[in-house]
Amino acid sequence: MSRPDLILRGGTVIDGSGGARFAADVAIAGDRIAAVGDLGGMAAASEVDCSGLVVAPGFIDVHTHDDRYLLEEPLVPAKASQGVTTVVVGNCGSSLAPYTRADLPKQASAMLDDPRWRFPTAGQYFEALDAGRPAINAAVLVGHRSLRFNCMDDLERPATGDEIRLMRGQLREALDAGAIGISTGLFYPGAQQATKEEVADLASEMRADDGIYTAHIRDEGDRLLESIEEAAEIGRMAGVQVILSHHKAAGRTNFGKTAQSLPLIEKLRKSQRIGFDVYPYIASSTALLPGIVDRAERVHITWCKGRPEFANRDLDEVARELGGLTRADTARAVIPAGAIYFTMDEADVTRVVAHPHSMIGSDGVPWDSFPHPRLWGTFPRVLGRYARDQGLMSLEQAVHKMTGLPAAEFGFKDRGAVREGAFADLVLFDAGMVADRATFEEPKQPAAGIARVLVNGETVWQDGASTGARPGRALRRQTGTTRGA
Ligand code: ZN
Ligand code: CU
Repeated sequence: MSRPDLILRGGTVIDGSGGARFAADVAIAGDRIAAVGDLGGMAAASEVDCSGLVVAPGFIDVHTHDDRYLLEEPLVPAKASQGVTTVVVGNCGSSLAPYTRADLPKQASAMLDDPRWRFPTAGQYFEALDAGRPAINAAVLVGHRSLRFNCMDDLERPATGDEIRLMRGQLREALDAGAIGISTGLFYPGAQQATKEEVADLASEMRADDGIYTAHIRDEGDRLLESIEEAAEIGRMAGVQVILSHHKAAGRTNFGKTAQSLPLIEKLRKSQRIGFDVYPYIASSTALLPGIVDRAERVHITWCKGRPEFANRDLDEVARELGGLTRADTARAVIPAGAIYFTMDEADVTRVVAHPHSMIGSDGVPWDSFPHPRLWGTFPRVLGRYARDQGLMSLEQAVHKMTGLPAAEFGFKDRGAVREGAFADLVLFDAGMVADRATFEEPKQPAAGIARVLVNGETVWQDGASTGARPGRALRRQTGTTRGA
C-alpha cells in the first residue's frame, strides 16, 4: 500500500455498526480510509495522537433545513462543530429547488424568502453546491410544498391530474439531477389540502429510482397514529420507502402516546420499508403559526420580521405588552415570525431516542436569529446527556443511530462506517466530555468534547474552530444501484 497521508494513532474506534469499540489506528489516503488496525509499522506524512479519544464515523444529520445555510455559510459551523459530516436538506416539504415562481406565496417557509437563493431546477441547486464547496456533504430532497407553489394557482385544494403531471415532471428533473427523494409537510398551510392520493401519485414517480419519501406528517398530536398510518399508506401506494420525520407526540393530552406510536411503526416495518428520526428536545420549532400556539405549554419567539425586538421573547409576555391579546391574536399581529413551542413530554422524547430504529435529525432552523438549540446541540446531546449521563443506550448504539443506520436507510454508499475503503468522514471526540452547550437562552454554542472532524479526508473542525477547509460534496443519488435499508 502506498504511504497514507494521515494516521489517527491510538484512539478507540466505534465503527458505526453498533458493535463494541476497539483500540485501533486509522490510516487515511486521499478521501478514503486506507487501513484500520494496529498500524505500528506504518508511517504517514502526518499523524494525530488520538489517545483518550473515540474515533467514529462523521455523523449524518438526516433531517435538516440547511439548504441555504450550506451556500450562505459554507463552513457550516453549527453542524461541523457537532461532528456532522453529511446533512439531508429539503425536509418538511420545503426546498430551494425546484422553484420556478417569481413571487413567494404567504404559505412558504422563510428559508425561501431570498430570491438569490431559489433555483428553478434541482440541477442548478446542485451546481451551486458544487461551486459553493461547503465544508460538509449534502444530500437533497425535493419539497412537495415547493412543487405545489410552482404548479398550482390555488393551494387550498387538492392538486388536479394536470397539476400532478406538472409536479411529477419537476420531480423527474430533480431525480435525474441527483435528488434522493421527496419530502412532504402535510401539516403546513399550502399542503394541508393535499390528499394522500396526490402525494402517492407524485411519489410513485420515484418507484424505479428507489427514491425516499420523508414525511412531516399531517398531525403529530391528537391524530398522531392516523397520520402515521396515512404516511405509511402513501409509501405502500407509491411503492417507496418512508421516513417519518422528527417523531414525537405533541400536546399535553397526547403525552405518552409514543408508547403506542412506536409499536405501530414496528408493526408497519414488518411489511414495508419505514423508518423515523428524532431530535432530543421537548420543544419543537417552526414558523409562528396562530393555529398551534395554544397547544404549547410555552411559546418562545425566535425571529420577527416586523418587530425584531420581539425575537428571543416569550409570546405571553409580548401578548401582555400588546394590551392583553390572546396568544393566537398576538401571533397574528406579529407574523411573519418564528417560534419554539414547548409541547412534548421528556418520557416520550427519551422513549423515541432510545428506540433501536430511531435515527437522529436536528431539524435545526439556521435562519432564526435565536434558533432552537437543536441546531448546534443535537448530536452531542444524544451522546452526552442521553447515552453517557442517563445510560439510555450504549455509546456504540448512539453512534450507530447517527452513522451506520442512516447510511443504510438513505443509501449513502461507503459512508457512516470506520472501515478500510470507506470515505474518511470521521469525528474524534472525548466520550467523557462530549456535551451540548447550546441552550434556549444562548443557542449558538459549539459543543464540548469534539476534538476534530474530517470530511472526505480533510480536517474541517479542530479545537473549537473551523479550519477553513471545504471538502464537502453533493451526494447525488446513484443511478442503477439499489439501496440497502
Ligand atoms: Zn417538520
Ligand atoms: Cu423539519
